[in-house]
Amino acid sequence: MSSYGRLSVVTALLFFLASGRAAALTLDQQLDMIIDVYRLSPALCDIDQGLKDPEMASVGEVLFSTPVLSGYQDTSCATCHLDQRALTDGLPMAVGVGAEGEGEERLSGDGVVVPRNAFTLFGRASSEYEVFFWDGKVLAQDGKIFSPIGEGKDLGFRSPLALAAILPLLARDEFLGKQSFIESTAHLDLIDSSYYGEKVDAANEVLQLILADTNNQLVGQLLEVLEENGFSAAQVTLPFVGNALASFIAEKVSNCPKTDWERYLDGHVDALSTEEKRGAIVFFGKGRCAACHSGSRFSDFQFHSIAAPQGDLGTHIHGQDIGRAGVTYDKDDRFRFRTPPLLLVSETPPYGHSGAFSSLEEVVLFHMNPIPFFAEKGWNSTREKLTYGKILGSRSELLQYIDVTSSEELESLVAFLRTL
Ligand code: HEC
Ligand code: HEC
Repeated sequence: MSSYGRLSVVTALLFFLASGRAAALTLDQQLDMIIDVYRLSPALCDIDQGLKDPEMASVGEVLFSTPVLSGYQDTSCATCHLDQRALTDGLPMAVGVGAEGEGEERLSGDGVVVPRNAFTLFGRASSEYEVFFWDGKVLAQDGKIFSPIGEGKDLGFRSPLALAAILPLLARDEFLGKQSFIESTAHLDLIDSSYYGEKVDAANEVLQLILADTNNQLVGQLLEVLEENGFSAAQVTLPFVGNALASFIAEKVSNCPKTDWERYLDGHVDALSTEEKRGAIVFFGKGRCAACHSGSRFSDFQFHSIAAPQGDLGTHIHGQDIGRAGVTYDKDDRFRFRTPPLLLVSETPPYGHSGAFSSLEEVVLFHMNPIPFFAEKGWNSTREKLTYGKILGSRSELLQYIDVTSSEELESLVAFLRTL
């Protein structure tokens, strides 16, 4: 069927659900129609072929949790992607080098704020997953991997996840550290002062410098796992690190827990309560959530703006985060972010690219009406109050069609989100 044909079937479904005739059907019958028209199925539980590599995964396991690659040797991937928080950190915005501890503990002290909310890593090793980060700065298309450091396949990365996995290593806030610490970690300056394209060479040099420090216990641990799995230190390049991290992430999250929603899709009608079923019907029906949160992962992997508040912390001008426009330089992309996938969403608060929303209720309501949020919370600063108009102007037109009109509907939507 052409995409126009599909669109009209969806429109017909939306009309039908809004009409009195839908009420004559049971909730399960209505959901059957929805599943059929949207062609819904559980998320593919596959692992990108190139990532199935037990030896690399063993090396990746050590790389994921060793702080030795960070500027002050105090931060690792596991610092922000914690097992007990569904592989996020539970913070509005992540805190990188210079902080201690986990989760909220990292807020006290001199840690460098990474001005974005951390993602979980579940599902990211699937071949279906092609766009990474809030701004999509790593993107797989036509067999190529586009990224700020160049085309990934040419560089030797086995998958977009492998490339996404090493970008934190090149970031000052997450790993490298502040300028003032440079004296103690002079070689890191090499990476930071290079243009992105040259960062790979610089990082390869740095990796060799780190591995040469054989008196360091953490380096010893790394050399040991390399040897055990048949690799030598000389083989350790940035793409090698990315491929190993990605193989480990793939292995770590490959058990693919079936969510209640996916069990429902598999035919277990009791997997959802009546309220959750009502919520699903709102989500795909008058809530129009699936206009953006579509497919088995609940994301179209496109970029939209809901005009999320962001305080004064952002990587771009005036402390704001212009999102996708920072990658494409297209002004129409300002304040647009990748539609976040919603699997496991109830386990990963806070929400939004800047972590401004503490609960699901808050972020869902904000899609329909941003005013209650500011009425209740006020503004972070005068600057935010004065600049928010620009962000508001970027709000997607699609949000106008959301037609949730009672608190029961809102509550049922949130109940449904908790089943994902
Ligand atoms: C200081 C905290 C922090 C550390 C350390 C960190 N991350 Fe992250 N991670 C984040 C944040 C924040 C984001 C979202 C950033 C963005 O989208 O711009 C993220 C996003 C990601 C993503 C993209 C997920 C998606 O859905 O697009 C991957 C993959 C990832 N991190 C892997 C890693 C790996 C591997 C390491 C170790 C080399 C690591 N991270 C270290 C905080 C951290
Ligand atoms: C125009 C596209 C669009 C529509 C329609 C839409 N969303 Fe979103 N949603 C987004 C984007 C983009 C974000 C992230 C915005 C940001 O942080 O700047 C988001 C964020 C979220 C989040 C937070 C997820 C997280 O991990 O931070 C939830 C939950 C959510 N949406 C649920 C819904 C529900 C429920 C509906 C229907 C009532 C809906 N959305 C409709 C685009 C959309």
